[in-house]
Amino acid sequence: MVLARLPRVDLGKWPTPLHELPRLSDALGGPRIFIKRDDLSGLAFGGNKCRKLEYLLSDAKQRGVDTLIATGSAQSNFALQMAAAACKLGMKSYLVLFKGLHPEMQGNMLLHSILGSKVSLVDIADSKEMFTVLPQRMNQLADELRSQGCNPWIIPVGGSVPLGTAGWAYAAEEIERQLGEQGIDIQHVILANGSGGTQAGLVLGFKYLRTPVKVIGISVLSKRNEAKNTVVTQVNETAKLLGLDIAMTPEEVTVYDDYIGQGYGIPTREGIEAVKLVARTEAILLDPVYTGKSMAGLVDLIRKGVFSKNESVLFVHSGGGAADFAYSQELTNY
Ligand SMILES: Cc1ncc(COP(=O)(O)O)c(C=O)c1O
Repeated sequence: MVLARLPRVDLGKWPTPLHELPRLSDALGGPRIFIKRDDLSGLAFGGNKCRKLEYLLSDAKQRGVDTLIATGSAQSNFALQMAAAACKLGMKSYLVLFKGLHPEMQGNMLLHSILGSKVSLVDIADSKEMFTVLPQRMNQLADELRSQGCNPWIIPVGGSVPLGTAGWAYAAEEIERQLGEQGIDIQHVILANGSGGTQAGLVLGFKYLRTPVKVIGISVLSKRNEAKNTVVTQVNETAKLLGLDIAMTPEEVTVYDDYIGQGYGIPTREGIEAVKLVARTEAILLDPVYTGKSMAGLVDLIRKGVFSKNESVLFVHSGGGAADFAYSQELTNY
């Protein structure tokens, strides 16, 4: 069974590695843990957005887009991946970013600048303004760019629309193939859930393949029900795009919202501990905003006995490590 292929541009290096984390499993006294290394996806510092951008930007190219506009926090990994993709495709890129905890010229902010992206930093009062003030600013910018003869495109937040989500449905096929080649059986896949497209793509892909794995999202942003509904909407819309007769309900989707802490982009002690644990057992670098919190979720669920010792879990490393440099204080002080 193979999903229908959509046109794509070449941005990443596939397949990304999939391997075991034996020292982490030992340290936790838990199930066998495997990792899917999308931090090594090959575009700038890697990350999960590369798979989405390959399809989104193929479509943009066909429409004659020459300038990309995206939003997120100052340390946004999506913005970084988009800025990097724009360089590879000979497009210009503009970023309208909210300041968040770390607007300083470090981590991803530094990389946006090295990649030549034009950044506007915006103050917002609360996270709701992400969906009001920032789109307004991006629309203004797009109008200005049009009046200068450019053909800009505002990329949807996190690339979580059916075209982007499809990239992660294809990733399920890649994972299934690697597990088969390595003779590994897994029962659970665990990953960070932000705008939901990565989880939705995997859920859809595994459902299509009839692979009996449970995909567990660890929310870093939204409350459980909201995150579940977002995943379901994206699964169903992406199924339509790919011509699949699949429809899901929120009851079929698993999301935990217990590891967000005080909010998006604000590190938790458990998340920082998880970053250090994985670094010190496996020499793999996670980040405090996404993968540290999702690993904290995995550690906690193992401690609570959610997975039995003879089960296997696949953790998706979705990238983000460049943000560590901006979060140096939290990473050293916690
Ligand atoms: C490192 C990292 N992991 C996970 C995610 C979450 O992916 P999604 O927005 O598809 O839920 C993001 C989103 O920005 C990210 O940057």
